[in-house]
Amino acid sequence: MIDDIARLRNEYEDRKRRFATSDLYSVFNTATLFAIHQRQRVTLHMLKKFGFTRLSDLLILEMGCGGGGVLTEYLDFGVFPENLHGVDLLFDRLLHARHVLLGSKFANADGQALPYCSETFDLILQYTAISSVLDPEIRRNICADLLRVLKPSGLILSYDFWLNPTNLQTHGIRPSEIRRLFPGCRFDFQRITLAPPIARRLVPVSWLFCAFLEKLKIFNTHYLVAISKIS
Ligand SMILES: C[S@@+](CC[C@H](N)C(=O)[O-])C[C@H]1O[C@@H](n2cnc3c(N)ncnc32)[C@H](O)[C@@H]1O
Repeated sequence: MIDDIARLRNEYEDRKRRFATSDLYSVFNTATLFAIHQRQRVTLHMLKKFGFTRLSDLLILEMGCGGGGVLTEYLDFGVFPENLHGVDLLFDRLLHARHVLLGSKFANADGQALPYCSETFDLILQYTAISSVLDPEIRRNICADLLRVLKPSGLILSYDFWLNPTNLQTHGIRPSEIRRLFPGCRFDFQRITLAPPIARRLVPVSWLFCAFLEKLKIFNTHYLVAISKIS
């Protein structure tokens, strides 16, 4: 178990070097901007479907928040910065998050042992964090702790890929595994995100055509899942 966490730390150090000069994850990359827009559209639709339209009073946690990019998106959705909490294993990424999200709270902790009381959060986010964990036991522990700190009326939003054959440092997460990881819950799955290799080629040519392709779902690589406790 310790080994997988050490592997993850090494992998992110290595990624920092590999992507130092790349714009792959930047909003200045049109395909990345497209993916973020599409994800936000479905996220807002999902939040509305579950009655989460007034976000200002909600306590929100992101497990595996990295540099805080996703939490920043929630400011635009109406969340107050002081209600945003982020947890990550990697201290330098949290320093960046703290810099961009003044007033929000961050903890350098392992998602397997979240430093919060039970039933604290209204909304919990996990965006591409679980797929970076290869050890099945760590995945199970993280998801159990997410359920512990979620209020009975709360919602977990999980956004992760089910397929990424090119990156052996990650492991996709399919709907059947999500169902196993969150026992006693109900689920709403939306298959989204046009496969990045296709998006990188086609979005610069036609945003509209790519929106149509994504609607077909067949080339989509991720699931956005709303997970709620069955009371
Ligand atoms: C691919 S990044 C995603 C960052 C952010 N959620 C986003 O979408 O921009 C995955 C993050 O999960 C964090 N992570 C992985 N395993 C974790 C664990 N057991 N506890 C806390 N954070 C973890 C990593 O350190 C990394 O910052």
